[in-house]
Amino acid sequence: MQHVLVTGGAGFIGANFVHHLLTHTDARVTVLDKLTYAASEASLAEADPARCELVVGDVADPEVVDRLVSGVDAVVHFAAESHNDNSLDDPSPFIRTNLVGTFTLLEAVRRHGVRLHHVSTDEVYGDLELDAPQRFTEETPYRPSSPYSASKAGSDHLVRAWVRSFGVHATISNCSNNYGPWQHVEKFIPRQVTNLLMGGRVKLYGTGENVRDWIHVEDHSSAVLAILERGRAGETYLIGADGEKNNLDVVRMVLRLLGRAEDDFDHVTDRAGHDLRYAIDSTKLREELGWRPSYEDFESGLEQTIGWYRDHEDWWRPHKEAVEQGYAAKGQ
Ligand code: NAD
Ligand code: DAU
Repeated sequence: MQHVLVTGGAGFIGANFVHHLLTHTDARVTVLDKLTYAASEASLAEADPARCELVVGDVADPEVVDRLVSGVDAVVHFAAESHNDNSLDDPSPFIRTNLVGTFTLLEAVRRHGVRLHHVSTDEVYGDLELDAPQRFTEETPYRPSSPYSASKAGSDHLVRAWVRSFGVHATISNCSNNYGPWQHVEKFIPRQVTNLLMGGRVKLYGTGENVRDWIHVEDHSSAVLAILERGRAGETYLIGADGEKNNLDVVRMVLRLLGRAEDDFDHVTDRAGHDLRYAIDSTKLREELGWRPSYEDFESGLEQTIGWYRDHEDWWRPHKEAVEQGYAAKGQ
């Protein structure tokens, strides 16, 4: 791969992946990003400009997408509206970006015969019972709960159809919850950490029994690169690092790491349709492609992430007030 197009490369996972790609390959990178509220040009500031170019544009715009796809060997598709709570407030941008955007990209890779990796989520499988032995596998039926996860499920189905009907050379990955640097303050871990750094309080939805399967963003990047380089065309790979934790335990860990009492948090209004538990079985990825996570201890990864937010207040602070006002208006 000499030249890779990364859509959504100014967002949380996309930007981390761009740095991973620049560090671990010789490829040149073009980022296509609409620079929505979730994007950050600062996240790409340290990328070598001789190897990394940012094009501001919409993945649902056929002209810009066709022009960029025609000049690359591979596309990695991260661009999406990504926050469940926002999808409950207004689903429309989720339909346009996640569905129409993926369709637009598929038509371009089909025209130009370019390899595509589509980045998706474990949320397409719905949720699991608490304390049950089941985990998601590549064979789990789709059962999305929210407008966000339904739009991602639809985008996966489009990719699968373009593979089968048109022979598009594509792979799909479905990953669990990421944490690490550059994650927007609307998301669970950055929200709680930055609340505490500002002297505010932790906000836990409902009882806090909901389980998420945490993976460090660097491990998500290394898995996507392994699939891009060695994954079999038409296949789906689940990405996870055996990081199941309930939200209450995560909150207590964040409070402890920041020197606060473990019961110093508020229960707030629960999310509508809140998925109970996600859990990934990543055997296929590990056995077929030899991938392993490097962050196996969640607490030390979290401590490092807290340190990053402490050191980057100038980055997150400008967005904090508006995000908290939006949550407060919903009793969250
Ligand atoms: P994010 O919201 O932080 O970033 C999304 C990026 O996409 C932003 O830079 C935004 O400007 C860009 N974008 C949005 N609409 C666009 C459009 N129409 N055209 C071009 N660019 C557009 O999201 P994230 O958390 O980094 O997630 C990236 C991808 O990974 C998404 O596809 C998401 O579904 C998937 N994913 C996320 C997680 C997670 O835990 N965050 C887990 C599994 C999968
Ligand atoms: O599983 C992968 C998914 O993980 C990705 O597809 C999504 O893009 C990503 O946003 C994430 O979805 P979640 O909805 O699981 O993440 P979020 O950070 O919004 O919330 C994580 C859990 O924490 C969830 O159970 C809701 C809860 N929560 C969230 C916030 C923002 C709280 O208890 N308090 C909060 O303030």
